[in-house]
Amino acid sequence: MISPQERKDKLVRATDLDALSCRFSANNRGYFNTPPDQYIRALITSYQKHLPFCQGYTQLSSNRTLRSVFQDNQKLPLINRGTYFRTRSIDLVVNDFISQHNGQCQIISIGSGSDTRAFRTLKDSPDVIYHEIDFPESCKIKRAAILEDDTLRDIIGYKEDSTLTDSITSKEDFQSYPSDLNTDRYYLYGVDLRELEGSKFSFDLTLPTLVISECVLCYISLENNARILSFFRDLFKSSTIAFLIYEPMSLNDSFGSTMTANLSGRGIVLPTFEKLPDLKTRLSFLKECKFLDIKLTDLSEISGYEGDNSWISPEEIQRIDKLEIIDEIEEIRLLLKHYCLTYAGIGDSFKSDRKWIISENY
Ligand SMILES: C[S@@+](CC[C@H](N)C(=O)[O-])C[C@H]1O[C@@H](n2cnc3c(N)ncnc32)[C@H](O)[C@@H]1O
Repeated sequence: MISPQERKDKLVRATDLDALSCRFSANNRGYFNTPPDQYIRALITSYQKHLPFCQGYTQLSSNRTLRSVFQDNQKLPLINRGTYFRTRSIDLVVNDFISQHNGQCQIISIGSGSDTRAFRTLKDSPDVIYHEIDFPESCKIKRAAILEDDTLRDIIGYKEDSTLTDSITSKEDFQSYPSDLNTDRYYLYGVDLRELEGSKFSFDLTLPTLVISECVLCYISLENNARILSFFRDLFKSSTIAFLIYEPMSLNDSFGSTMTANLSGRGIVLPTFEKLPDLKTRLSFLKECKFLDIKLTDLSEISGYEGDNSWISPEEIQRIDKLEIIDEIEEIRLLLKHYCLTYAGIGDSFKSDRKWIISENY
């Protein structure tokens, strides 16, 4: 039997499967082409092998979960398009940050789940150091995916021999399997973000650092959001530290209420969705958390479905327009309007040529 809190955490961990299946679908459709994401498959295979050993799963329930998530391998055009803009816009800011610091910087992805950005970044930017944090179980799935895959082992610079995970054949084996992994430039930590302690991490406190939260802080209470932000802010007080936060917001409208109802039907609560419903409340919260360089926008602007602030070139828009037909223009605009992208930093000002709806430097 698992406790009510463990059940809630299990549901939150499972949201990673949604993210993975959306990336899988968009990638299959050709949205990611520079080059296509060739790392997704290893993550899916690891889930298929190891989900039955995770807390609260049996072989049967894990098969059911994976079937329902990856059912037709293809999501609706609206979802593929949203996944593309989400991934692309975060990539653009990450790349801007890396360029600004001439590649001499550190990325920390909190709640990284099965995201593949670490592998793309490490491949393209040889001097960047990448850290990923998630619940121990989620990290075990990722660790196994990396160690079972020659390309991924190579990218992270893993040099040891003992790689095979064939020995994981039971819940006991999975329980004793390590969650952490480290090389000279890649670190994976199985840590609950609500229990952060400096001693657990091997961060370089002198490097400019970008902390990415892609649909993660939204699952955590506002008090713990503030604690997580101040943990990193205080740890990196002698260097540049910035957060890049992507997540949904309610905008206090009927579309937002429908989103809340859909999520609570699945037992998922998003504390920041209601408490920080729009860009203005997010700006105030980040100011209260003592960040000085704050920029906010939403995906409807980034994508160009609204306003004149698109981050995506007309040629690229033309390319993705040809991939599949989207009739529901108003629906996609409304959906994207409910997803914000926020940059909040202290230290060197972020030199971004991109258009943000709000840009404040205190
Ligand atoms: C929606 S998924 C997003 C995964 C990844 N960032 C992406 O966008 O593909 C949310 C992730 O946050 C992680 N997460 C949520 N709360 C967490 C916590 N308290 N500690 C560690 N990880 C957490 C979940 O395990 C899950 O992997």
